[in-house]
Amino acid sequence: MSEKISSQKAMELEKKHGSFNYAPLPVVLAKGQGVYLWDCEGKRYLDFLSGYSAVSQGHCHPRITKALQEQAETLTLVSRALYSDQLGPFAEYATRLFGYERILTMNTGADAFETASKLVRKWGYEKKGIPAGQAKIVVCNDNFHGRTMGAVSASSNTAHHGFFAPILDGFVRIPYNDLASLESALQDPTVAAFVVEPIQGEAGIIVPAEGYLKRAAELCKAKGVLLVADEVQAGISRTGKLLASHHEGVRPDVVILGKALSGGTLPVSAVLADDAILSCLQPGDHGSTFGGSPLACRVAKAALEVVVEEKLAENAQKMGQIFRSLVRDFGSKLITDVRGMGLLNAVAFAFTDNDQANQFCLDLKERGLIAKPTRPTVIRFCPALVITEAQMREAVGILQDTVRSWEKKC
Ligand SMILES: Cc1ncc(COP(=O)(O)O)c(C=O)c1O
Repeated sequence: MSEKISSQKAMELEKKHGSFNYAPLPVVLAKGQGVYLWDCEGKRYLDFLSGYSAVSQGHCHPRITKALQEQAETLTLVSRALYSDQLGPFAEYATRLFGYERILTMNTGADAFETASKLVRKWGYEKKGIPAGQAKIVVCNDNFHGRTMGAVSASSNTAHHGFFAPILDGFVRIPYNDLASLESALQDPTVAAFVVEPIQGEAGIIVPAEGYLKRAAELCKAKGVLLVADEVQAGISRTGKLLASHHEGVRPDVVILGKALSGGTLPVSAVLADDAILSCLQPGDHGSTFGGSPLACRVAKAALEVVVEEKLAENAQKMGQIFRSLVRDFGSKLITDVRGMGLLNAVAFAFTDNDQANQFCLDLKERGLIAKPTRPTVIRFCPALVITEAQMREAVGILQDTVRSWEKKC
């Protein structure tokens, strides 16, 4: 058992010795189970952040924890310089489940985005015949693919471009949900890929118009451009289907997965593609000491089995509908929009600034519900997919009480 510590002390230590790259909600969590979290003093919360949508199977899912424990006592890491008895079975299971010929396992979501970026560039040179050094990747404004240099370079956040300059060349940014801009960007024969989030998560849960992804896939196909779906946040059943792309019947050429691939236990990410694409990466082109470790593979297989066997897509679909319809029924002037799919949802508020959104989340936390703003006036609500209707109604009740108390103030 680790030593007990008060919330106050934990925050002091983190402030004194930690880094400043996050602005956490002032709550110190010490335990999690399913959709619940407990702080150091034992207060219980409904977790609607779920580790930024990673803990889809619920905190400390017994089956995933068991796989983690057993494998941790058996073999954790050999590196891909050697084979392990876990990577093959996981790769077989995952490729069958998602319907691709091959999988490349990495660690974080950003890591997988980097992998996909390298992969499509090399594919562009070797298979499409793009002249050396000219491959381009089309991305969308307000995208979020992580925090590495590649992801920062792809991002339309120009403040970050300035902070971390010089950024990488070769990303072409177009507006999201805009097929005319995509069609025009794809006229350039040096475009290797279009990388897109089927639903933009960090941008504030932006669901594109019906038919967008389907038509984008057709445009890419017509121009010999790879369609890469970043499903790190929306994938693995969070939106009510195994992949968010499936809502439009789209099979992207490349899929990027992360977050829920390990049920939030350890960083596991992956890139899925068919042989003609993924075989472009040969020994020495890419890798990672921890990517595809026996521990990661064992846990990821268990995490996916839980999603399938517990029918989490169906539950996400059902619970998401309940959430959105109950919140719309508040009929509150404070709420300007309720949007999302499955359990990837956001509520937009008539706040004047980010301080109000933060204060609102503090009020939610006091009442026992954890959520965070994703944009200055938008709060994301993404519980674990194992949530029950009673738990959902309890959370919506807390949200309603908080909305009513703010209506009196505003
Ligand atoms: C769509 C998408 N891609 C990539 C990432 C980066 O994942 P990670 O934080 O694991 O690097 C995120 C994280 O929120 C994401 O939402």
